[in-house]
Amino acid sequence: MAEAKRITKADLERIDSIISDYREQRWGLIPLLHEIQEVVGYIPPEAIPHIARGLGLFSSQVQGVISFYTQFYTTPRGKNIVRVCRGTACHVRGGKTILKLVKRELGIEEGETTPDLTHTLETVACIGVCALAPNIVINKDTFGQMNPKKVARLFGKKDEV
Ligand code: FES
Repeated sequence: MAEAKRITKADLERIDSIISDYREQRWGLIPLLHEIQEVVGYIPPEAIPHIARGLGLFSSQVQGVISFYTQFYTTPRGKNIVRVCRGTACHVRGGKTILKLVKRELGIEEGETTPDLTHTLETVACIGVCALAPNIVINKDTFGQMNPKKVARLFGKKDEV
């Protein structure tokens, strides 16, 4: 699992600058959170009291919104978001094995990010290309008909291919 990244002074300054654009604008919480996530890559928990103060809210209200919406992350995400399909077609064509192999290659479990922040591993319901099952999506690219060799090739262990 990725070590908790400490927020940098520069990140906090960037966050404070974004907050200043939304001062006392409670309605602006969601766009503000999106903006912070876009600039910093995630919403550092240390920023929550700053956000609350800036908008005139309680920290618990800000935390509640972050927890409610699945698109907000409070831990750093990897540069590459790897999603293994867990839909039925992928499952029956070996998706479970593909997930196991990806976990082994990356050395992380589902929902985790590699310590070097290169990969975050997630699973996803059917992505709509069942004919190519089992599928993996990396960022916006879909890789179909996955097998152990393709997994090894995708994640760098070329000597095993
Ligand atoms: S079940 Fe995986 S793409 Fe449909």
